[in-house]
Amino acid sequence: MLVDIIAGARPNFIKIAPIIEAIEAAKKAGMDMNYRLVHTGQHYDKKMSGDFFEQLGIPAPHHNLEVGSGTQAEQTGKIMMGYEKLLLETPCDLCIVVGDVTSTMACSIAAKKVNNIKVAHVEGGIRSGDWTMPEEINRIVTDAITDYFFTTSEVANNNLRKIGIKESQIFFVGNTMIDTLYKQMPRFAKPELWDKFGLSDKRYIMMTLHRPANVDDKEKLKELITEIVSSSQGLPVIFPVHPRTAKILETIATEASNLHLIDPLGYLEFNYLVKNAKAVITDSGGITEEATVMRVPCMTLRDSTERPETCTVGTNELLGTNPKSIAPAFEKLFNGQWKKGAIPELWDGKTAPRIVNNIAAIFGLS
Ligand code: UD1
Ligand code: UDP
Repeated sequence: MLVDIIAGARPNFIKIAPIIEAIEAAKKAGMDMNYRLVHTGQHYDKKMSGDFFEQLGIPAPHHNLEVGSGTQAEQTGKIMMGYEKLLLETPCDLCIVVGDVTSTMACSIAAKKVNNIKVAHVEGGIRSGDWTMPEEINRIVTDAITDYFFTTSEVANNNLRKIGIKESQIFFVGNTMIDTLYKQMPRFAKPELWDKFGLSDKRYIMMTLHRPANVDDKEKLKELITEIVSSSQGLPVIFPVHPRTAKILETIATEASNLHLIDPLGYLEFNYLVKNAKAVITDSGGITEEATVMRVPCMTLRDSTERPETCTVGTNELLGTNPKSIAPAFEKLFNGQWKKGAIPELWDGKTAPRIVNNIAAIFGLS
């Protein structure tokens, strides 16, 4: 059996690493399951791609479609054309897509259209309800043509049931991003900037922002940063800047003595800093899950989330995107009133082997 594994953007790399490891283990144990790793090239900077392969021990991709950046349609089209060509030359038996980025949607469409190749969606069923986010469109389209859904929560299962997906297609397995988190935790690495900026445990704030709704309008971005920096009671704010955000930041002045703008960090350094931070303020999806598992208070600058369990069970709270909501949230944090949270069901570090066992059963390999 040949399984294609698709990865294109930073969070994908973290989600596929344990799946590859589980397939390799199954193969070693005698199972007839081979994989082909396809990197679409959606993310390409070393700091957004290559560093994750190195740190997480992901093997070099068998194919890189090298699509690069572009508008939503350009990127979707280029990925579909590149992947279709590969499938026409050598088809696979199953295409595994993860998450909700454009590569996820484009490859699932290409696989289905080439020869009704079976598609498995890892992290299927999650919904924010916000159709202005490109990711929500990616989720809806991907799930409309997915055969097997590997889900992270009961909420996701219910979302799928509501759109008529059969029980036999839904596999509640947990979260592969958290498999990587648990596996790598002993290797988390203190970055050099710890000493350079004089950081100490729980005496700094981690920040990331990259959603178009927060960063593409420079006035909005400036307001958000100003409010965060002034609400943090002088604690250092460490802000590894996503390339999308970096482009906008070049055009605005954001100096403040406690604000440290830095390049995107490696996985091991970034999560060392999250684990030891007083809190995280972000608009990322994956980081809300990691903060939940590491029990670090998390403030999310979004009106909705497709990961409600990070709020109902975990340490996350949605602040919305109005800068005025930031100061009261920091007050609550500094007053010691932030919830402690718990870990969502099946986020136990063993999700990828469950996925591979289910695939083996579906395809009659076990
Ligand atoms: C994408 C995903 C988003 C995910 C994020 C993770 C979609 C629609 N969005 O957003 O869900 O949260 O990745 O980080 O798939 N760029 C570089 N170097 C790179 C990659 C991007 O400079 O290696 C710059 C380019 O200017 C590019 C911009 O970032 O135009 C946006 O990249 P893109 O992949 O389109 O979307 P992200 O904002 O990264
Ligand atoms: N991450 C990282 N370095 C950084 C910022 C994020 O290693 O400087 C990791 C983070 O730990 C998480 C993933 O990247 O595993 C989240 O990616 P991102 O926020 O870009 O995407 P999203 O989850 O919002 O789709």
